[in-house]
Amino acid sequence: MARVIPPMTEISPTRKVSVVDGNADPAVKEEFGVLEGTLGPDVVDVRTLYGRTGYFTFDPSFMATASCQSKITFIDGDEGVLLYRGYGIDELAERSDFVEVAYLLLYGELPTADERREFEVAITNHTMVHEQLLYLFRGFRRDAHPMAIMVGVVGALSAFYHDSIDIDDPDARKIASFRLIAKMPTIAAMAYKYSVGQPFIYPRNDLNYAERFLHMMFAVPSEEYQISPVLARAIDRILILHADHEQNASTSTVRLAGSSGANPFACIAAGIACLWGPAHGGANEAVLNMLEDIGTADRIPEFITRAKDKQDPFRLMGFGHRVYKNYDPRATVLRETCHEVLDELGVQDEPLLEIAMELERIAVEDDYFVKRQLYPNVDFYSGIILRAMGIPSHLFTVVFALARTVGWVAQWNEMIEDPSQKIGRPRQLYTGYGPRKYTPIDQRS
Ligand code: CMC
Repeated sequence: MARVIPPMTEISPTRKVSVVDGNADPAVKEEFGVLEGTLGPDVVDVRTLYGRTGYFTFDPSFMATASCQSKITFIDGDEGVLLYRGYGIDELAERSDFVEVAYLLLYGELPTADERREFEVAITNHTMVHEQLLYLFRGFRRDAHPMAIMVGVVGALSAFYHDSIDIDDPDARKIASFRLIAKMPTIAAMAYKYSVGQPFIYPRNDLNYAERFLHMMFAVPSEEYQISPVLARAIDRILILHADHEQNASTSTVRLAGSSGANPFACIAAGIACLWGPAHGGANEAVLNMLEDIGTADRIPEFITRAKDKQDPFRLMGFGHRVYKNYDPRATVLRETCHEVLDELGVQDEPLLEIAMELERIAVEDDYFVKRQLYPNVDFYSGIILRAMGIPSHLFTVVFALARTVGWVAQWNEMIEDPSQKIGRPRQLYTGYGPRKYTPIDQRS
């Protein structure tokens, strides 16, 4: 792995915009630099805003705020484009594989044959987990949600791998990155095996990344497990499609946790916790639950009506995205993969798929969804594929987490190597009480 990523450099403004404070007396005009990226909207550099004007900006959900400079992933939500290091997601899903995509995300370029071989060996060397971790698993209830186990076990890796938590040492950062990418499938499969009461299956390093994961999930010591190349390819695709998604909630969480100097295992555990939420990584599990609740195609209109009713908290899961205001390109790839997997498994009439297709057909023509640009997102199909493979729905977010670990690790490394990096510290618009005197308890009403 001789490849070295060129360091992040400070960009210079290409032009200025004026901000005029009409309330000031006389009106004050301050100019702010505009920074241009290679793609996407330019950004106004407001870092000196407070010092020069006494104002903060207010953008609680980051609707219009770039939190960092990054060279890893680009999304054009209007056009439905997703690029990893400049390569289109559809082409990567078609022609590449997850290990190569991991290299690309980490190092910025597709590997040569030698680089790829070396990288794969390095990752494969770290697939086992410390034997003592088995006891940690046994401390969880059997019915624990696997994401709860993942948060705990991944966070605990920092207690097992002391030699790779010095974030100032590039070699330690590299080893921690490899360990996380290599061990996530092992930990994910262990969480599953623990929940079903089967023995843990050790990683087989003669298999590729996706095959190894399937083997650890579904093999049992008492019989031979045949790995289907179609299913391995489908898992590999799901991993590629979920590998990174620029500054989404969990990635921003990893960056924010990392900005304080926290070790990489703790940062990735923070990312897993954030991903767990139903508005983020928990959505594919929610899609499946929703399709099961719908049950039959004739009930779709009832659910569409509920999704449109502002008094009803129900939302059509797997629809809509903060960034994509067009088809999620990942959903387009997965739609095709979904059919391949169902064919391979001989699932002719999967009622949930039929409901999903009909739901999609009705929703994309419905005025409410069209006006708000709500299209199927990646989670709409991934749940059906994973379920058909025998992966239970409470494990779906775990699969997402294992894929996204590569993106988190790449983004974490980029942040650490950025010389302008400081601890992240948002400001606030305080709307609470002004200063007041303490009232002794006997005088409170
Ligand atoms: N069903 C019904 N209405 C919706 C939906 C939906 N799934 N999504 C958004 N809307 C409506 C929303 O009520 C609002 O309507 P109005 O303007 O009348 O108030 C409008 O569309 C804009 O929605 P928003 O909540 O302001 O959009 P957001 O960017 O804050 O939310 C979202 C994005 C993904 C959280 C949301 O679309 C949602 O909850 N979708 C369902 C959950 C889901 O599928 N999440 C997976 C996201 S993809 C995986 C990932 O990348 O993490």
